[in-house]
Amino acid sequence: MLVSAKEMLRKAKAEKYAVGQFNINNLEWAKSILLTAQELNSPVILGVSEGAGKYMCGYTTVVGMVKGMIKELNITVPVAIHLDHGSYEHALKCIEAGFTSVMFDGSHYPIAENVKKTKELVKLANEKGISVEAEVGAIGGEEDGVVGNGEVADVEECKMIAGLGVDMLAAGIGNIHGKYPENWAGLRFDVLEEIGKATNPMPLVLHGGTGIPSDMIKKAISLGVSKINVNTECQLSFAAATRKYIEEGKDLQGKGFDPRKLLAPGAEAIKATVKEKMELFGSVNKA
Ligand code: 13P
Repeated sequence: MLVSAKEMLRKAKAEKYAVGQFNINNLEWAKSILLTAQELNSPVILGVSEGAGKYMCGYTTVVGMVKGMIKELNITVPVAIHLDHGSYEHALKCIEAGFTSVMFDGSHYPIAENVKKTKELVKLANEKGISVEAEVGAIGGEEDGVVGNGEVADVEECKMIAGLGVDMLAAGIGNIHGKYPENWAGLRFDVLEEIGKATNPMPLVLHGGTGIPSDMIKKAISLGVSKINVNTECQLSFAAATRKYIEEGKDLQGKGFDPRKLLAPGAEAIKATVKEKMELFGSVNKA
């Protein structure tokens, strides 16, 4: 069932669990994530970065593919198609293409500009029942080739952006995309707690879900995080399984690899990663 992220996150916040956003890059990733969500009776958000959208032949192709899968695979759990770290222009394209949720990452604009653009998008998205995620305080690490410096969000700015009618708020609390360095200081729970109090009942979003220890994930959920984004961990498990298959040399007697068989172990590995995360986030049987 294709829906916006609004209701699923409201429910998650009220019942103290988090919905996973898993990024998709191709048909195999989308299929693995949807099948796992259905098997575990969990709501799910499919994240699409601008780069992944381009790779998959544009946003309308993504919407067509996901809609087709929902129908053909009988997916009845709530599914949102969400633009991840979108620019203003790409958020507009996704609203047009049939996405049910968009993130506008205005964190690199001065706050007045972030407010203005967020307001405009909220108005357009609301008219179509599409949910909007805003960001305050850039998330560190790499986002589609752009390396941000991990920031800790300003509580007053979070309050201001949360008041603009967005449905979820991503606030930097020392989290970064990709693997965490050895000397990572951990999440700033003091800041998360203040942001949670200042923006309640706004569902908060934790980016950079890969590599955050389980106890920190649970604590973040207890402090109001209702959506957690995971990308790198799926990439790592997909790559490891694919590499193993190739190294085992299972080709077709000199005819090369069967593309369907070649991608199957990676697809299975993604299912296992998604299952582990849904269990940790507490979204199993919450559809
Ligand atoms: P990771 O790649 O660290 O899992 O982060 C994903 C993310 O936050 C996408 O927005």
